[in-house]
Amino acid sequence: MFEDLDALAQGAAEAFVHACRNAIQARGRFVVALSGGSTPRKVNALLASPPYCDFVEWPLVHVFFGDERFVPPSDNSSNEKMARDTLLDLVPIPRENIFGMYDEVPAEEAAANYEKKLRELLGEEAVFDLVFLGLGPDGHTASLFPGRPTVHIDDRLVVAAEANVGVGQRITMTTPLINRAREIFFLVSGPDKAEALRRVLEEEEDWDQTPAQAVARHAGNVKFLVDERSASALTHKPE
Ligand code: 6PG
Repeated sequence: MFEDLDALAQGAAEAFVHACRNAIQARGRFVVALSGGSTPRKVNALLASPPYCDFVEWPLVHVFFGDERFVPPSDNSSNEKMARDTLLDLVPIPRENIFGMYDEVPAEEAAANYEKKLRELLGEEAVFDLVFLGLGPDGHTASLFPGRPTVHIDDRLVVAAEANVGVGQRITMTTPLINRAREIFFLVSGPDKAEALRRVLEEEEDWDQTPAQAVARHAGNVKFLVDERSASALTHKPE
């Protein structure tokens, strides 16, 4: 458990560098899915600056997104825009290694196109080296929202989705795709996440109420990077 978001961001940047180094040593490339929202901004800023940016072999990094608000990457709500502004436009990653989700077609078609791109690069098994996820105060992660059927979809890797907050139309990776990643890190900071984090880690499973449980309780390798305020409602504090 970290004292605050600054310390958590450092932990996440170190996890990114470590996973990147391992993946490149093992497979000659690093395929990562970034999270949207605001929590990753400080992580991205660290990765874009020395020393972390110098530890990453950016030409061998391939970046996807766990979910997207279905708006153009010029829109301030876009997760791709946030990632470009805080990281991707600041490091020497080849443009062709960045896979944005938005497309000038209906959301379902864009989702199908994204899944196709994913499978072309990763092969049918579609295993990410690292997936960063956030947690909403309502217990959502990526764009898997409470009360929506999306968290139960198990025959697709990427789908169009509806959000309960913010931009309604979304595209999201599904639980089967997220859960097969070699490493998953939830980045959870702030008192507004405390109740959701307690439900994710300690409450009886109910994916309709707390979709993030579908990842947290079932993925092979999940770690939680949390700060004291987001962990304040937990009975058992992570180390
Ligand atoms: C999004 C994210 C979403 C986010 C959580 C936490 O598109 O908004 O993918 O799942 O990770 O809502 O967001 P914050 O980091 O802003 O609290």
